[in-house]
Amino acid sequence: MRTLSARISLATIAVLCLAAAPLQAAPPPASGPDSGPESGRDYHSLANLAQMRIQHVDLYLDVDFAAQRLSGVVDLKVDRLDDSARTLVLDTRDLAIRRIWLLADGRPQQVLPFALGEPVGTLGQALTIDLPAEHRDRSFAVRISYQTRPEASGLQWLTPAQTAGKTDPFLYSQSQAIHARSWIPLQDSPQVRVTYNAEIHTPAGLRAVMSADNHPELSADNVYRFAMPQRIPPYLIALAVGKLEFRAIGERTGVYAEPSVVEAAASEFSETENMVKACESLFGPYRWDRYDLLILPPAFMYGGMENPRLSFITPTVLAGDRSLVSLIAHELAHSWSGNLVTNATWRDFWLNEGFTVFLERRIIDVLYGEKRRDMEDTLGLQSLQRNMRTLEKPLTVLAVDLRGRDPDDGSNDIPYEKGRLFLGWLQAKVGRDALDQFLKGYFDHFAFQSIATEQFRDYLLANLLAARPGLVSTAELDEWLYAPGLPRSAVLPSSDAFARVDAARKQWLAGKLAASALPVAAWSTFEWLHFLNNMPAKLPHAKLAELDAAFKLTGQRNAEIAHSWLLIAIRAGYQPAYPRLEEYLTTIGRRKLVKPLYEALMKTAAGSEFAARVYEIARPGYFSVLQSTLDPIVRN
Ligand code: BES
Ligand code: ZN
Repeated sequence: MRTLSARISLATIAVLCLAAAPLQAAPPPASGPDSGPESGRDYHSLANLAQMRIQHVDLYLDVDFAAQRLSGVVDLKVDRLDDSARTLVLDTRDLAIRRIWLLADGRPQQVLPFALGEPVGTLGQALTIDLPAEHRDRSFAVRISYQTRPEASGLQWLTPAQTAGKTDPFLYSQSQAIHARSWIPLQDSPQVRVTYNAEIHTPAGLRAVMSADNHPELSADNVYRFAMPQRIPPYLIALAVGKLEFRAIGERTGVYAEPSVVEAAASEFSETENMVKACESLFGPYRWDRYDLLILPPAFMYGGMENPRLSFITPTVLAGDRSLVSLIAHELAHSWSGNLVTNATWRDFWLNEGFTVFLERRIIDVLYGEKRRDMEDTLGLQSLQRNMRTLEKPLTVLAVDLRGRDPDDGSNDIPYEKGRLFLGWLQAKVGRDALDQFLKGYFDHFAFQSIATEQFRDYLLANLLAARPGLVSTAELDEWLYAPGLPRSAVLPSSDAFARVDAARKQWLAGKLAASALPVAAWSTFEWLHFLNNMPAKLPHAKLAELDAAFKLTGQRNAEIAHSWLLIAIRAGYQPAYPRLEEYLTTIGRRKLVKPLYEALMKTAAGSEFAARVYEIARPGYFSVLQSTLDPIVRN
């Protein structure tokens, strides 16, 4: 199936890519049958990665809220890998490029000609910069003066009304998967690794923070300077600007948030320092110095984003009872899986997310015990099983072929929960301590590198499985990595606590137990989610009214429980919940929470009408990528 030997190295890949000179999203070879994607080849970058490699980025940007624009310059230090290369090709999307210079000792030496290519779908436009014919330097630097556009796919410009404080605007970036190119012209591929420095000029009183060395003090002159001395992939370059305060949590942990949110966040996430310690004790040192959290406005499309040193976090996990903190464990765990060892291409995304879910649940196990871990594992499995019923088969492969697709479309439960089940299966084979030990060695071995599935596979065979002949066949292993669906050998999690919830639900559904008599006193958020997520497709209104009266579910402030309840209400067309549904959809922009609600609404005529009306109100507040996801669903 795979044409390249599993022993392929990045150097070999570089040579192969060079031969193919991919300036376009490469179609499958014209002759012969399609042999699948090449290991380690990035089909989502237009840059000439095999010939040139960016090593360092220096950013100087002004933040203009009125024009919804970043403008300034970026200096790129570049290594020429191929002596014959005469052009530097970068990724861009919707950027206005003004001028480009070759630098000598940090100063403009010569203006360079450049051309923007035709747009290639969501990949954007190649920016081809011509180097002087006589220029031979192995290492050189260019300066690009440019501006972003208001529609930059990787930036969200929020009005004061969309923030907690309502007084100041807010800006944040979301570069994963391929949106860094919409606010910085660079080689936007996860196999490129750069250090960066930045100087950000903000409007008076607004603080800038980045995935770098943040300082708790406000700047007196509205200039914020940053350094990220560790080599990171460009999708981890991140910026936010807003009215932000800082509260320390522990020695090396703290939160940045709007003033009205910062206390609640510091208290909700007070266990962050312990999470760092737990992860270090299992998987080796935390290598990024500080670990801070940035709480974003509710429009943020994700639960969290693992920007190094500063995870970006949705406020929808501020439940008041620390029940949704596994999100923090998740983003923190990316400091090992994802940020230290990075997927080389989006086909290898499961190396980031599957490992991270596994680490997240190991942290939960250490901090809160196995009962809670079992519940979270089981909810993850249920979500995967629901998701698998609707996914096209090719998308259920771990090493997924995303050629010709937007990598944001490939984001589903497969890399997360199937990836986690793969590691759970390995753990069942070799034992927990042996797998922990192996993972620790893996993070150390590949630290600050970007790797493809096949490099992981080789390393696994050599360092875990070679010493255990007969335990796992390569056919079994390859079924996990390359076949669709769930292998029958999967070790499925289960939860005793959930079995008791199932029994109670059954009694209530059969009318043998009143809602007020359900044993909810000891239920955590997870039991509630299990109770609600596994209701029959359509419940009578009287049953919903009974639950609502007993537990005030329509008024529930826990965003996850509210989501599960609203989904039931939509399926039943239970009108008393609709004002809350409208409020929910117009204030929260987290894809995982809102997309299923729109999908459920669109299944009935009355629901579609409601969805169409509310979507027009909510849409301007949603992130670009969420608009692209929902437009075809709601505006079809
Ligand atoms: N890195 C992801 C978010 C992401 C993935 C952004 C792909 C853009 C493209 C982040 O670590 C994540 O997985 N977030 C999850 C939460 C997690 C607990 C499963 C989310 O946002 O729901
Ligand atoms: Zn993640």
